[in-house]
Amino acid sequence: MQKIIDNIKKKPISLDQYINDCLYKYKSSYYEKDLIFGPRGDFITSPYISSIFGEIIAIFIINYFLKKKIFSFKILEIGAGEGLLAEDIIKTISKFKNIKCQYYIIEKSKKLKKIQKNKLSKLKVKWFESLEDVKIKDCFIVSNELLDAFAVKHFKKINDVWNEKFVKYDFKKKNLITKYFKITKKNHKIFNFVDKECNFIEFSPDIFKFVTGISKVLMNSKNNFFLTIDYGYNSERYRNSLQGLMKHKKVDIFSNQGFVDITYLVNFNLIKSIFQKNKVSNVNISTQSDFLKKNGIIERFNQSKKLLDSDEKISKLHLAVNRLINDKQMGSLFKVMTASNND
Ligand SMILES: C[S@@+](CC[C@H](N)C(=O)[O-])C[C@H]1O[C@@H](n2cnc3c(N)ncnc32)[C@H](O)[C@@H]1O
Repeated sequence: MQKIIDNIKKKPISLDQYINDCLYKYKSSYYEKDLIFGPRGDFITSPYISSIFGEIIAIFIINYFLKKKIFSFKILEIGAGEGLLAEDIIKTISKFKNIKCQYYIIEKSKKLKKIQKNKLSKLKVKWFESLEDVKIKDCFIVSNELLDAFAVKHFKKINDVWNEKFVKYDFKKKNLITKYFKITKKNHKIFNFVDKECNFIEFSPDIFKFVTGISKVLMNSKNNFFLTIDYGYNSERYRNSLQGLMKHKKVDIFSNQGFVDITYLVNFNLIKSIFQKNKVSNVNISTQSDFLKKNGIIERFNQSKKLLDSDEKISKLHLAVNRLINDKQMGSLFKVMTASNND
């Protein structure tokens, strides 16, 4: 997108502004485009691998509310992509005739919101504009691969002084390069969450607003619950994990603007610390593998395979389930974080 480059020619911009421009700001930004998900797109998320993923989440949600003897509840999905997970969850819950559920979505991309409205038109889904509009009780908030789609900043300590990464135009080489600039004031919230040993920080500034918004919803009612799934790690040290993806391959994030997905590994330790600072009492992190196994994915696979009429279909389902739970695939890189004010 030439307008991004033209802007940078006038003045360097911060890394997170660059990522936001590439992913969301313009009609030709990445998430406003067609065909980015699935085998023919740039990446595959769990709902595309198997609908068993959504079924297990649905069963987790049902169990959560039934334990509290709640038969009518709400689900709010944030960042619903093409609406696949929503469809799987709603279809699973609708099999339980004694349960009433209203599904809501918050979606940043105008294009994806349109796709969701089309796909889910018969399922009575409603959309909220932002978390500030969410004043509901008995609400389960869920997201899959949302946080890795937030734009990040890079801060680095050079000679004991913090610097921030900017994107600038190199007029000689005629391309984009990055350069660290000294921070005049260390006034970003992130500095309250790092210790003296820390020399590098990769984080999304939007994570503070997001987690605080979720914390407020959790404070609204003890029955409200948050579950998010994403690839990432749980450590006080930050990794430099920013990467571009195009057609399932790693690519440079400073070329092909609007055609490259820009993503990073979420640091769940930071999110947990923000929740704790907001006095959210119950925060847990587990691997996707543990979560799915604990909530019955193997049993569900054994049940589903009995209904399949060919060995080929069974082996396809086996491969899909294995991809979700195998530690060498998505099993341990993907984490499940839950948060609530339940004691
Ligand atoms: C990587 S995609 C994942 C989509 C879907 N959850 C899935 O698993 O296939 C990230 C999604 O989050 C949306 N998104 C990113 N930032 C958001 C925000 N602040 N609020 C709501 N949606 C957001 C994107 O537009 C996109 O729908």
